[in-house]
Amino acid sequence: MRNYDLEFLKRFSMVMAFLIALAVLLVFLASHLSKTIPPEVLNSAQAQVENRIAPTGTVYAGAEGEELKAASAQAALDRAKANVAFGGSLDGKVVYDGLCGACHTSGSGGAPTLAGGQFKARLSKGEDLLIKHAIEGFTGAAGVMPPRGGNPSVSDEQIKATVEWMLAQ
Ligand code: HEC
Repeated sequence: MRNYDLEFLKRFSMVMAFLIALAVLLVFLASHLSKTIPPEVLNSAQAQVENRIAPTGTVYAGAEGEELKAASAQAALDRAKANVAFGGSLDGKVVYDGLCGACHTSGSGGAPTLAGGQFKARLSKGEDLLIKHAIEGFTGAAGVMPPRGGNPSVSDEQIKATVEWMLAQ
């Protein structure tokens, strides 16, 4: 071997040794860091876990339970009110066609129909009472009229307008 080959080998092995030492150092540093830094917990993963281990139902008991029940019933009522049916339309025909007509056109379940004048015949009770019955529901000899025609998000004003429209037919 010539002299400069020896010189090259010496430098080359020094560089190699340095790189190997650096690699080993980095391995230890990485493993140390992975032990000291706590693993990141994804918020969504946490929520999923909580959702999975949550109880399927809640027991309402005692005075606190009554309060919670009342609050959730009120919240449901508010939601229904905020979401007024038929876009809040006060046009009796719109509400009638969308809801009341299902029973009052065919007369199903004993509902008085508009066509035969059966509905108008009830006017002798007084319009206010008919409106009250339409809002609160009414069970008479003919059948069961559900409160607000079965849709709690129809407002009092809408029922009034619809009964008036039905009487005018
Ligand atoms: C599920 C079927 C059904 C729907 C829907 C329905 N009704 Fe009735 N309705 C009846 C029946 C049945 C009666 C007759 C009850 C009786 O006299 O026995 C009745 C009776 C009435 C009466 C007369 C009550 C009385 O005191 O004689 C009014 C007013 C009335 N409905 C209004 C409405 C209005 C307004 C709507 C829509 C918001 C509506 N109904 C939707 C079934 C229905």
